[in-house]
Amino acid sequence: MEEQEYSQDNQTSLLGYLKSMGETRDILRWCLCEFVNDTARTFIRRLLIWSVLSRAVSLAYPYLMGLGIDGLYQHNLTFAIFAVVGIALTYVLGSVFEWRAGHFIELTLGENLRTIDHAINKLFFAKNLGLHLQEGGKLTQENMEKGWNRFDMVQKAVLFSGIDSGVTLVLSLLMLSVLSPMCGLIIAATLVGNFVISLSLNRLVTVHMEPVESMFRALTRKRGERWQGVERVITSGRDLEEIEQMNREFTTALEADRKIWLSYIRGTMPRSLLAGFSVTITGLYAGSQVWYGHMDVVDIVPILTWAGMASQQMRFLARVEREVNWCTPSLKSLCHALSLPNQLAQTDQPIVLSDGPVEIAFEGLGHSYDHKRGAENGSAVSVLQELSFRVRPGEKVALIGPSGAGKSTITRLIQRYMDPEHGAIRVNGHDLREVDLRSWRRLVGYIPQTPRVFDGTLRDNLVYSLPPETRSTITESPGRPQWHEALRRRGSARYDRGGGPQASALHDHRRGDLQSGCRESDRRAGGDRSAPCRRGS
Ligand SMILES: Nc1ncnc2c1ncn2[C@@H]1O[C@H](COP(=O)(O)OP(=O)(O)O)[C@@H](O)[C@H]1O
Ligand SMILES: [Mg+2]
Repeated sequence: MEEQEYSQDNQTSLLGYLKSMGETRDILRWCLCEFVNDTARTFIRRLLIWSVLSRAVSLAYPYLMGLGIDGLYQHNLTFAIFAVVGIALTYVLGSVFEWRAGHFIELTLGENLRTIDHAINKLFFAKNLGLHLQEGGKLTQENMEKGWNRFDMVQKAVLFSGIDSGVTLVLSLLMLSVLSPMCGLIIAATLVGNFVISLSLNRLVTVHMEPVESMFRALTRKRGERWQGVERVITSGRDLEEIEQMNREFTTALEADRKIWLSYIRGTMPRSLLAGFSVTITGLYAGSQVWYGHMDVVDIVPILTWAGMASQQMRFLARVEREVNWCTPSLKSLCHALSLPNQLAQTDQPIVLSDGPVEIAFEGLGHSYDHKRGAENGSAVSVLQELSFRVRPGEKVALIGPSGAGKSTITRLIQRYMDPEHGAIRVNGHDLREVDLRSWRRLVGYIPQTPRVFDGTLRDNLVYSLPPETRSTITESPGRPQWHEALRRRGSARYDRGGGPQASALHDHRRGDLQSGCRESDRRAGGDRSAPCRRGS
């Protein structure tokens, strides 16, 4: 899919809006390819069959009712019995078909969620970590979660309402046209009118809601930030001021939001009037046909019911379209994030490094980042140029430099989160690009600037980076119990127990315990990329 921002500007004219619908279609198609597997497609096909049957049966109801009335009126027992049995059958069959349709909706929803969940897990870790770490990068947790939720919303809107409304619309129009082609034509013509009105209403909402939604988003962000920084707010004596400010901002956003929806609701009036008008015209036409003896009076019942149902479905479909529109920007972000090229190509037969001393050489290294705010025109910002140095086995080297000098970039390059643009990193003489990544990362110990403690026990956190088979032996084996025991002795009561979210046990002196333990384990176990030790990088 083309890299192009989802543009609200596109949508200010009706034509532009129609064009943006093409874009929406592309994104939906992408979702369909990525997140709807063959099993789900089979479910959807079955769902369609059951939906058609269920709707066909329920749409037969007004016809049978007309037949019943006719039977009673003409004292025709056969008609009356046929109608009663038919109506009873529509109820029985209708509920069976509806149950089957619901069954397949549920199966499809679950299957799709499984697919998107697995796809996100896999793609997220497989994609270039350098891009993920980029400021303002696309592979953010927020993008993933929002995309996931929006996909779920779209699939629910389509499966619960879209399919049913679409099937009802087509069937009622078809049945109406069979019974009276003219009535079918009248309703079809008003459907076109209805479609245009719905389209312009949805355009109105999509265009005007964007700034309002961004106001709400900004407010939510601000509130989250202030809540997290509650100490700073309170000790600065700004709490009342903040509350007032946030209330004011919320009211402003709410009023703008209300204004849009009130004008939307006003705008739906012509649509309802048009629907009512078309049903009235249909009734008048059918009535005149009956008057002149071209049609049975009982046909009026199904004709008016089907005409009404067809008009009603347009409204439901417009609601689905609005929901899809609302979800499209997030789906587009998800699509872009998951379509990022994986720039870390692995050679077919990578060199597997064995444990032992390594020599690292930087040869004429150059690297830059795509920086949104770094350069005026958004072009790349060069961070490293012609960097060459060598670290021999056993040698200790410190990289010292001002903030922004590129120290962290070097550590990312060493771990091959990304590849350098120029030059090469050599490990024992091999270009890092030709080395088996897992075997290399096993040899690297990295303690990031910001400690990252995962939920779980302290022990879980300490042994996190170790291979599964050594995770228990590293703490239990006779030669290595010192730091493990030290933690226990020094009162880390929760050493073996869950620490709660973000290992809350670490907030007091135990954090110090973990840090000392971690440094020890770092030396012994070859380091831990995620161990919660504080060290500049
Ligand atoms: N992921 C990124 N995306 C864009 N620019 C980045 C990214 N990471 C770092 N930079 C920029 O690259 C420069 C070097 O950053 P960094 O390697 O983190 O420096 P140091 O660790 O020495 O403080 C800085 O100007 C920084 O803004
Ligand atoms: Mg740094």
